[in-house]
Amino acid sequence: MTPAELAALRQKHYNATVAWLHKPNSDLMILRIRPDFPVPQHKPGQYSTLGMGHWEPRAPDCQEEAPKPEDEYKLIRRAYSISCSVLDEHGQLFDMPATGWLEFYIVLVRHSDQGPPALTPRLFTLTEGARLFLGEKIAGHFTLDPVKPGDTVLFLSTGTGEAPHNYMLWELLRRAHTGKVLAACCVRYRRDLGYTPIHDELMRRHPNYTYLSLTTREPTNAGQKVYIQDLITSGQLEERLGHTLDPATTHVYLCGNPKMIGVPTVDKTTGAKVYPQPPGVVEILERRQFQLDQHSLKLKGNIHVEEYW
Ligand SMILES: Cc1cc2nc3c(=O)[nH]c(=O)nc-3n(C[C@H](O)[C@H](O)[C@H](O)COP(=O)(O)OP(=O)(O)OC[C@H]3O[C@@H](n4cnc5c(N)ncnc54)[C@H](O)[C@@H]3O)c2cc1C
Ligand SMILES: NC(=O)c1ccc[n+]([C@@H]2O[C@H](COP(=O)([O-])OP(=O)(O)OC[C@H]3O[C@@H](n4cnc5c(N)ncnc54)[C@H](OP(=O)(O)O)[C@@H]3O)[C@@H](O)[C@H]2O)c1
Repeated sequence: MTPAELAALRQKHYNATVAWLHKPNSDLMILRIRPDFPVPQHKPGQYSTLGMGHWEPRAPDCQEEAPKPEDEYKLIRRAYSISCSVLDEHGQLFDMPATGWLEFYIVLVRHSDQGPPALTPRLFTLTEGARLFLGEKIAGHFTLDPVKPGDTVLFLSTGTGEAPHNYMLWELLRRAHTGKVLAACCVRYRRDLGYTPIHDELMRRHPNYTYLSLTTREPTNAGQKVYIQDLITSGQLEERLGHTLDPATTHVYLCGNPKMIGVPTVDKTTGAKVYPQPPGVVEILERRQFQLDQHSLKLKGNIHVEEYW
């Protein structure tokens, strides 16, 4: 492809600019994207779409892609939850959406058993000022709509699954939420926790806020891996919260690895609920009188889920 063709494709498809970019480690990125259009109306917890062309280069050391001529001019798009760093450089709550940008928190998928990951190897070549595609629609039912001011709110995540929770946390602080808020995030290594200093600062400021981080692959984890599910079954989560989990006054938000979440399927012949094994958080909480919120079935509940894959 000639430089002129490349420029024309970018001009045609791209409608946003990288306003700011930070890499907590080489495979993890927090980036702020400024659209050419006004930031669409949205609620914390929702997701948008990012895209880059097949014609763009890929980061090194990622699974090789077999070139397909029919894909060469196509835009690759993926859903991304909107994140938030909560506090600006003066330590004040960000004035969202007046900033004019949206924040995203993205992990580089170097390899996938389903075939070469298409978008993240390209997103990880971006630098400040670079252009890309941002969807004009922001959507999703993973929001704080059902939460009342005194409710307990649990945000449980793996990896970049804390992205929508961080924006919802910003919203709870903005609303001066009086109930307890506990966020827990499970990652492979400590370096995979991109927002730790912000959570530490928020805990100092807000006695009703607790952030727990779990790692699973540090040398200290050998033989004693603790998953999000174990936090609940061991009673540690309630200990940190200071009270037992009451389904009448608690909303639980789950985001990240589908195995941590464990959404049940329905057996077509018996109609029975079938939970994936080993148990995810949904099964553990449903056994304790919580109920999965299922928007597509119009079933309201207090367990809210966003699955990444
Ligand atoms: C509603 C929604 C919101 C999302 N929000 C985010 C987000 O905020 N941050 C983010 O990094 N990703 C998010 N994702 C995942 C994202 O859409 C892409 O799938 C991901 O970035 C990988 O894209 P890819 O083209 O490189 O690889 P793909 O071919 O899309 O995925 C390859 C494989 O990578 C694994 N994978 C995908 N996403 C992740 C992830 N986040 N963490 C660990 N493994 C993963 C899965 O095994 C998947 O099969 C979200 C997905 C959905 C549906
Ligand atoms: N994180 C890295 O250092 C790294 C480096 C290079 C590439 N990548 C790639 O990036 C992608 C995302 O990696 P990621 O680490 O962000 O996400 P991830 O693989 O989903 O892991 C996030 C956390 O979820 C835990 N987890 C796994 N199975 C679980 C289950 N059944 N129940 C509860 N928790 C469970 C993981 O523990 P386990 O330790 O048990 O898996 C880990 O602590 C992957 O494709 C990976 O190949 C990651």
